[in-house]
This record gives sequence, structure tokens and C-alpha cells, in this order.
Amino acid sequence: MTQIECKNLSIGYDNAVVCENMNFKVERGDYFAIVGENGAGKSTLMKTLLGLIRPISGEIVIGDGLKRKEIGYLPQQTAAQKDFPASVCEVVLSGFLAATGLRPFYSKEEKAKAKSNIEKMGLSGFEKRCYRELSGGQQQRVLLARALCATKKIMLLDEPVSGLDPKVAAETYDIVEKLNREGTTIITVTHDLGSAIKYANKILHIGSEIFYGSKYDYMMSNIGKNFIYHGENRNV
Ligand SMILES: Nc1ncnc2c1ncn2[C@@H]1O[C@H](COP(=O)(O)OP(=O)(O)OP(=O)(O)O)[C@@H](O)[C@H]1O
Ligand SMILES: [Mg+2]
Repeated sequence: MTQIECKNLSIGYDNAVVCENMNFKVERGDYFAIVGENGAGKSTLMKTLLGLIRPISGEIVIGDGLKRKEIGYLPQQTAAQKDFPASVCEVVLSGFLAATGLRPFYSKEEKAKAKSNIEKMGLSGFEKRCYRELSGGQQQRVLLARALCATKKIMLLDEPVSGLDPKVAAETYDIVEKLNREGTTIITVTHDLGSAIKYANKILHIGSEIFYGSKYDYMMSNIGKNFIYHGENRNV
């Protein structure tokens, strides 16, 4: 079942096009990796899929009964976000904001679900801790718990392991893979081509050239080979 289909999609800001003419489909259960150089438009694409930015042209069709507000999102981290002065519990609960709309409180069910997501991410006992005092890996797990509040159907992750040491990065990939095995569709932006090739079934490469297809076709394509062997990912 197709959850998201983009047809001739062009994205950007105030009519300044960042990336043009993308065509791809995200099916239920996919592990969909978005790769490309810095500034290619990966984060812009994520925000466009979420409806935070309007497409410049083309179409995004949401299907399979999915609603936009049911898309979980882990934004690319900035230094300011790492310094966010709120408790773990508050950060996780904020994952429900899209669903609560103007309602100024969280329901009992939402609080229970937040608690269960905190447990699922191995953060029991951390509820009252201040988010900014946690390690990078713990912060990523808090953000995964937050993204899970929006949905179990589909998650958009923007560089989920950036800044993490290899061990914690591997643990984070394990958590994401487990969510995917349990049925959550994963769309992830990554600079880590090794992980994209290990976990993803589909790859979208954006930039001056665009590739969309299976990871096997990507590894065989010129664009994939160039990016894997000659670019910043020479060591993969
Ligand atoms: N709010 C904004 N307004 C105008 N231009 C923007 C805005 N955000 C990003 N851009 C520009 O859009 C282009 C794509 O940025 P984007 O953040 O999507 O790239 P990216 O592929 O995610 O890069 P990175 O790998 O560094 O995270 C860049 O040229 C950037 O300067
Ligand atoms: Mg980005």
C-alpha cells in the first residue's frame, strides 16, 4: 500500500527551487533512505512531506488511510535544540501537539502512551530529567519516543545518528530497525551510506542528479557508485 507518492515534485523556498522533479513512492513497511550532498534539499524535502513547507510544484499524494498529523518526525538537531530546557516527559509529550491542536492539555491516554514510549526507548526513570543534561544518544532516544507519539505508522528521521559515537549510533539504528520490523515505515535522511545500504530497501538520492529505486539498483548505478566510492563517503 502506497503511503506517500510524490509526482514531479519540486521543492524550495519563495520560488527558489532547491530540488526539481522528484518522483517516488513510499510503501507501507519501507525503510526509505534519502541521501545526497550537504544543501541538496534533504531536510527541505522532509519538511515538505510533513506539510510544513508548500511544494513549489508537483503533487504529494498521501494514501493508505494515512493522515499528515500521523507522521512522526525527528528533526535534524541544532545546537539550540540540544539545549532545550524541558523535562524528558515534556519533550516526549510534545509529540502529541499536532494532534491536540489548540487543546491546552494532554489527555490521560496521551500521558499513558508517552510513558509507554519512554519505556520502549529504555528511558524509564528519566522522565523528570532535564533534556539538555542528557547525552547525545539519550537525547536521540527521547526524540524517537516523541516521534512515536504522533504515530506508529510512519516516521521521518532527519539524520538520527549525527553527533553520536559509533556504539550509540549502532544502538539507535537497532531501535529504528526494530520499529521497522514491527511495521513502522521509516523515512530517514542520512549521511551514513553504510547504514543506508545495510538497512534500507529503497534509496532516494537527490541533488543535481536524482535516483530513486531499490538499494541494489542504487549500488549498481553510476550515481550511487560515484557517491559511495568517490565522495565524502569514500571510506564506507
Ligand atoms: N528556511 C530557509 N529559507 C531559505 N532557504 C533555505 C531555508 N532552509 C534551507 N534553505 C536552503 O535550501 C537548500 C537546501 O537546504 P537543506 O537544509 O534542505 O539541505 P540538506 O540536504 O538537508 O543539507 P544537510 O546535509 O547539510 O543537512 C540550501 O541551499 C539551504 O541554504
Ligand atoms: Mg539537512
